[in-house]
Amino acid sequence: AAAQVVGGYHRVNPLTEHELELLYDLIAMRLCTSVTISAHQRKIQPDNQYLTVSEGPAWTALTLLAQLSPRLFLSAFRQACGMAACPGTAAVVRWLETHADAIGPVVEADLRKGEHLVFDLSAGSADPVCLIDPADVPRVSDALFERMRGAGVRVGIGRYDEARRGYTAAEYRPAGSDADEWRTVHLGMDLFMTPGTAVLAPLDGTVHSFANNRQPLDYGPTIILRHEIEGAGELFTLYGHLDPECLQGLYPGRPVAKGSRIGAVGDPSVNGQWPPHLHFQLVTDLLDQAGNFPGVCAARDRALWLSLCPDPNLILRIPHLPKPESGRSPEEILAARRTRLGTNLTVSYEKPLAIVRGWRQYLYDQLGREFLDAVNNVAHVGHGHPAVVRAAQQQMAVLNTNTRYLHASLVEYAERLCATLPEPLRVCYFVCSGSEANELALRMARTHTKGTDFIVVDGAYHGNTTSLIDISPYKFDGPGGSGAPPHVHTVPMPDRYRGPYKDHRDAGRRYARLFGEAVERIQRGRGRLAAFICESFLSCGGQIVLPPGYLAEAYRLVREAGGVCIADEIQVGFGRIGSHFWGFQTQRVVPDIVTLGKPIGNGHPLAAVVTTPAIAASFANGMEYFNTFGGNPVSCAVGLAVLEVIEKEGLQDNALTVGEYLKQGLTRLMPKHPLIGDVRGAGLFLGVELVRDLDRLEPATVEAAYVVERMKDRGVLIGTDGPFRNVLKIKPPMVFTTADADRLVETLDRVLAEPRLRCLRAGV
Ligand SMILES: Cc1ncc(COP(=O)(O)O)c(C=O)c1O
Repeated sequence: AAAQVVGGYHRVNPLTEHELELLYDLIAMRLCTSVTISAHQRKIQPDNQYLTVSEGPAWTALTLLAQLSPRLFLSAFRQACGMAACPGTAAVVRWLETHADAIGPVVEADLRKGEHLVFDLSAGSADPVCLIDPADVPRVSDALFERMRGAGVRVGIGRYDEARRGYTAAEYRPAGSDADEWRTVHLGMDLFMTPGTAVLAPLDGTVHSFANNRQPLDYGPTIILRHEIEGAGELFTLYGHLDPECLQGLYPGRPVAKGSRIGAVGDPSVNGQWPPHLHFQLVTDLLDQAGNFPGVCAARDRALWLSLCPDPNLILRIPHLPKPESGRSPEEILAARRTRLGTNLTVSYEKPLAIVRGWRQYLYDQLGREFLDAVNNVAHVGHGHPAVVRAAQQQMAVLNTNTRYLHASLVEYAERLCATLPEPLRVCYFVCSGSEANELALRMARTHTKGTDFIVVDGAYHGNTTSLIDISPYKFDGPGGSGAPPHVHTVPMPDRYRGPYKDHRDAGRRYARLFGEAVERIQRGRGRLAAFICESFLSCGGQIVLPPGYLAEAYRLVREAGGVCIADEIQVGFGRIGSHFWGFQTQRVVPDIVTLGKPIGNGHPLAAVVTTPAIAASFANGMEYFNTFGGNPVSCAVGLAVLEVIEKEGLQDNALTVGEYLKQGLTRLMPKHPLIGDVRGAGLFLGVELVRDLDRLEPATVEAAYVVERMKDRGVLIGTDGPFRNVLKIKPPMVFTTADADRLVETLDRVLAEPRLRCLRAGV
């Protein structure tokens, strides 16, 4: 932030290099003056808090200044003013480029002749090595060395200036940053080699410093050499993850001759718990450090650190080494979307994310930045779940065709799915999206009842086809909508926070009785009721829990009027609500038709309709039902794998316990943040309604949008929903943990405390 201020000042009132050199000391002096004055004032007027209002922040800034090298600030200020961050680097680079003969090898294998394999370890890499949990060091090591053996090489290369995922331990937070950002951009080059492989000095020099950086995920044994570069100052070379034996007998200043052995590659038990490799890095300004130096930097500081750490390939001289591809930037992707895709295909967040990888409950952007995904209820069993991926890949490689051939997986899957549902829901139809499922459900209802009309709950969304937009108040009453068509009858949301019966103990039955009016309206219009469709928990409606007895009474009235009852479980099914596998079970009812989607295939386009034998019989009226992709062997393999994972990993129980823990955490924020009007939901389907006023319940819509954006900036993804878009929706992958819940609650707590929220409220 300081660099941005300096850069902004420089644009208006240019600063000289000399002025920039003085800035750190001037800032430090100003802060010292400030805390001294505060201390003095406190003595004179102990009760006047205003006089010491800046003391705390001044001490925080001073402490930070003391922790970091003044030259790091100078480099950052120079960078912000458009100057080379480290002015000495250019001459060193020029010397290295022009003195190839003076540079010796770092390893015995001849890298210049291609005795190596380059690994793509970038955040979005599809390299099989990157599909393994980075924390699983033995498996990652095996995979790396297996590939190297296969290629007949002794050295594997991990590249410089590569943004990776995986550096998400606390150690990788940038110093002085309170943002949830990790250092992900690799500043050295990795040379994966078997433990014991010799490491050589490429240039004459002296030992600058050495240390055994024993903390897990640190460098382990590390040596830094200093080299005098003729006419260009000094260069440091850093060797990390060595075997500790190399540190014996070392002392600062000890001469090291080009080509001499300085150590050997360590194994994971001694090298900081990494796959065996040498981390080799060049540094032109060590920023007063010794024995250690950052090997990765935060993406936002990339240019600064790359200026301090030139490309190690200037020494290794690997020919044709491909640079890590940066791909299209988020801005470029957005611009291309605007011209090549319909503009009502919206993106989340004011500053949208370019996500390149999903893993369990985390998403990673192009810069390797990790986000805790607390909103994606499609990646039900976790992003990229290996069992689901394996099932899809294997079946895809063997056969994928349509349901006109007999395939055991189709019936096996139908049987397994029906086993989760109560009688008489025993007949399945497989489709490819939630919309297709609901569309089919409407057709079935009409064929079975000969009815025409539908009753829907206000605020509901059931899909994107023409007939589903017609039954989705969320759409037809929203922007671009043209109201309910004559065959659609909306009943109020049974909302216990802001509806007419919110304070009634029997709110469920009272809300359901409003069906009487809808049925009368249908009869007056000479229509006939086909179905009532309702989500078992209202998602787009604002994460609303139906009051007890609501569906029982509503279903009774609907059936009495000749209609059937459709439960849309597309968002809430498959154990999400914790206490039950299906949402409707919490209401002690059995629908006539159930529609399933989103989580069913963990992201694979799969959805289903399950109904009773009687409705299926009516639907089989002679017209063939065919679906090219629905129920294909790959989809069935995926669907089966998802069911198996839910059961094997106890994810429904996890949703119950972690969901309850998270709900309690969110509820605890209420007294501290009056913006929170309500915390509701079940399992891992939760909503936090934000209101400006706890009596009038004025929706805090702008504030909710701000909160979601800031949570994203701080690495936690949630969304908004509800008719006023003022409900924070939380519906993470079911592998969410209590630690994730803590992180979410802490982040929300911090964001809700931001002063900007008060300005938004005041309309500023
Ligand atoms: C409750 C509900 N029903 C149906 C759908 C439509 O599903 P799809 O987008 O897979 O067509 C959605 C999608 O958001 C939904 O939330």
